[in-house]
This record gives sequence, C-alpha cells and structure tokens, in this order.
Amino acid sequence: MPQREHYLFVCTNRRADEDPRGSCTARGAEEVHQALKDQISRRGLAKLKARVCASSCLDQCSSGVTILVEPDHCFYGRVTVADVPEIVDGIVQGLRVKRLLLTEQDLAKG
Ligand code: FES
Repeated sequence: MPQREHYLFVCTNRRADEDPRGSCTARGAEEVHQALKDQISRRGLAKLKARVCASSCLDQCSSGVTILVEPDHCFYGRVTVADVPEIVDGIVQGLRVKRLLLTEQDLAKG
C-alpha cells in the first residue's frame, strides 16, 4: 500500500466508567472512527489521501474525542460524528478545521 498524505489517529481508549478522567470511547470515539473511515472510503480518498487509524490514549483526555492528524501535526478535540464531513473536507482542501483545533490551554491540561 502506498503512503498516504495524511494519517488520522483517533483515540479509541476506553477506561472504567468510574475513572474520573473519562475516555474518548465513552464520548463516542468508536462512532467517530467509523464515520471517518466510511467517508474517507466513500469519497475515494482511502488509497492515496488519508488513512484513519485507531489509537491508544493521546494524552488529551479532557478534550476527547481527540484526533491527531499527521504530518500536519495538529490535534482536533471534542469531535463528534457531526464534525466528520468538515474534517474530511479539510483533508481534501488541505485546510485545518480551526474550530476543532486544541488550544495551547487544552494541550497543557492534557
Ligand atoms: S482517552 Fe482519549 S486522549 Fe486519553
């Protein structure tokens, strides 16, 4: 398989319900991961443009669901299934979805 232009790492970490940190899976990460895979495939982007990968914890739990986009090296946070079309549009256009980018404050909180 050729190297894709972008790799989207979706945190699908799951913690026990009573863990105060919560987890991205508890906030809908598996649905986000699947919706991204579906749309990337449906739009013909899977072979060359983008690969969607499930990731372990990205250490940005307070902002979950989190996605790390490489090589762009940016984090999206608080992502829901409703955000997926805009994220895929951004991949196609080479643009970041600014409203989803984690801020320096978010990143410092972890
Ligand atoms: S549980 Fe998703 S970033 Fe930690």
